Amino acid sequence: MIAENIKEKFLSTFNSKPLIVRSPGRINLIGEHTDYNEGFVMPAAIDKEIVCAIASNNSNKCRVVALDMNDSFEFDIKNFNKSEKGWPNYILGVIEQFQKRGLEVMGFDCVFGGDIPLGAGLSSSAAMECAFTFGFNTLHNHNLSKLEIVKISQAAENEYVGVQCGIMDQFASVHGLADQIFRLDCKTLDFEYYNFILDEFHLVLCDTQVKHSLASSEYNTRRQECEQGISILQKHYKDINSLRDVSIEQLIKHESEFNPIVYKRCKYVVEEIARVIDCCDLLKKGDLIGFGKNMYKTHDGLSKDYEVSCKELDFLASKAEASDMVIGTRMMGGGFGGCTINIVKNEFLDQFNEYMMAEYKKELNLELKTYMVKIENGTSIL
Ligand code: GLA
Repeated sequence: MIAENIKEKFLSTFNSKPLIVRSPGRINLIGEHTDYNEGFVMPAAIDKEIVCAIASNNSNKCRVVALDMNDSFEFDIKNFNKSEKGWPNYILGVIEQFQKRGLEVMGFDCVFGGDIPLGAGLSSSAAMECAFTFGFNTLHNHNLSKLEIVKISQAAENEYVGVQCGIMDQFASVHGLADQIFRLDCKTLDFEYYNFILDEFHLVLCDTQVKHSLASSEYNTRRQECEQGISILQKHYKDINSLRDVSIEQLIKHESEFNPIVYKRCKYVVEEIARVIDCCDLLKKGDLIGFGKNMYKTHDGLSKDYEVSCKELDFLASKAEASDMVIGTRMMGGGFGGCTINIVKNEFLDQFNEYMMAEYKKELNLELKTYMVKIENGTSIL
């Protein structure tokens, strides 16, 4: 449906036959704030996506229509600057990366849109970057590997958009597989898929509908705090490069040398990396209940030790956990707003949505949105 609307808009606006690319948003089951610490994450691509229709136009002119925003943007492929509108920077950033690598991108026409809720922590920006990287790669036969597509997309976000994100979101958008989650080793970039077919459960996201302005500054602060922790430990252990290389015993041994806040941050990361490994073993044994218990611990750590939660997320996680309708819940993504992810028992699906919406309204006087998500394939051509 989305793809048809986009194609129709493209055909009525531009006089050519487009390539249609889709790239999905992501969830993360466990392994939060571990990607930039070279740890493990366990994400998946979902059935919410960005779709873009794109065709070269044999000029230097680029014309982009953002269908959902009822907006458009034009620029010269050989001479462009950051846009104040915001959204064009995801495209400009990708083009800049191609150009930095000496890969040609010619003028193009494009219409894009999608159904990933913005600001909900489902990585609509990563999906957009990956859709365009994939699109330019295909249009110009650059033969980039999936990993290069991920890296170009992440670099666009880091260098042009200016968000120091890790690699998880773009990796998940490109490498997702239907009904599978994967464990990504953010140190080696090796990954392994795990079946995630839930007979008795559904994945439901509860969208707080808030995004506190602290999100990006605190994200960068957390990265620095982790760096500080590493430099303390490096004085004692020469082979430590990141928190991935640190054991909880090493951390405890040197606690007195740490500022207490930095210590809490590092403790959370080291524990979270261990939880992902544990969750993989549990999945192999089919123990989803055990998996869900780790999710509760992750939320607790993100809230109390890493301090990236907020009252809305804490409220939703605590209500869900106390309700008996879920086997796991936690805040998901960078924090300070966005969604909680919940593994909800099938028999309570309707009741869960109604209950959470009503409680959220009653306690915080805010509207809650819920999304039942399916795990889907990563970036592809339609
Ligand atoms: C954001 C970033 C990711 C990751 C998560 C936290 O989504 O873009 O790289 O760090 O936060 O796990």
